[in-house]
Amino acid sequence: MMKKLIFAFIAAAALCFSAFAKSLVVYFSVPESTKTSGLTRNEENSLVVVDEKALGNVQYVAGLIAEETGADIFRLEAKDAYPTDHTALLNRAAREQRANSRPEIRGKISDFESYDTVFVGYPIWNADLPPVLYSFFDGYDLSGKKVVPFTVHGGSGLAGTPRTIARLEPKAAVEQNAFSESRNTVDSCKERVSNWLKKIGEK
Ligand SMILES: Cc1cc2nc3c(=O)[nH]c(=O)nc-3n(C[C@H](O)[C@H](O)[C@H](O)COP(=O)(O)O)c2cc1C
Repeated sequence: MMKKLIFAFIAAAALCFSAFAKSLVVYFSVPESTKTSGLTRNEENSLVVVDEKALGNVQYVAGLIAEETGADIFRLEAKDAYPTDHTALLNRAAREQRANSRPEIRGKISDFESYDTVFVGYPIWNADLPPVLYSFFDGYDLSGKKVVPFTVHGGSGLAGTPRTIARLEPKAAVEQNAFSESRNTVDSCKERVSNWLKKIGEK
């Protein structure tokens, strides 16, 4: 009897916590065009067209996660905006990564402390996190939070980034079953996102 009561109490407490737990999706994404048709190969690779809007690959997945989980959403942008021209973007990324740069982030996430779970989305840039992600992990305290990485890549998969994040945030619980989608199949990933969220207990 006592055991049953304890179980019921734990279940009720868990239910209460999940009802009040707050989630946030933070993402970085650089769609290389705002056009929705007549795209070059590079432009096509970097975006998904939804309802006549050009969304970056990671931006699209971030929206799906927010929709499925009811999380708030914040787009990480560098104060000095990234170019959308492919070659200029590659050059700036390479320059910043070589210099280990921490580009300044535009704006601030309000009430960041109040979130229990933070989904963090990014493209893979040269087999690593983009520099703005390093700025984010430097600038925000994720101690005690659950951090859930997701990416859309061009062939590298996660490139070890969940481990990199765990190293950067040793006091956070970093989900190692991160979501990874190829840009070639991103426009059909809705169900995979949903199944993954169920698997990691976020839906
Ligand atoms: C500067 C730069 C470097 C990239 N490096 C890689 C890489 O090393 N491995 C990979 O799989 N994809 C790489 N990509 C491809 C992106 O990860 C991929 O296109 C991603 O889906 C873009 O997401 P976004 O549209 O949300 O920015 C790179 C793209 C850029 C712009």
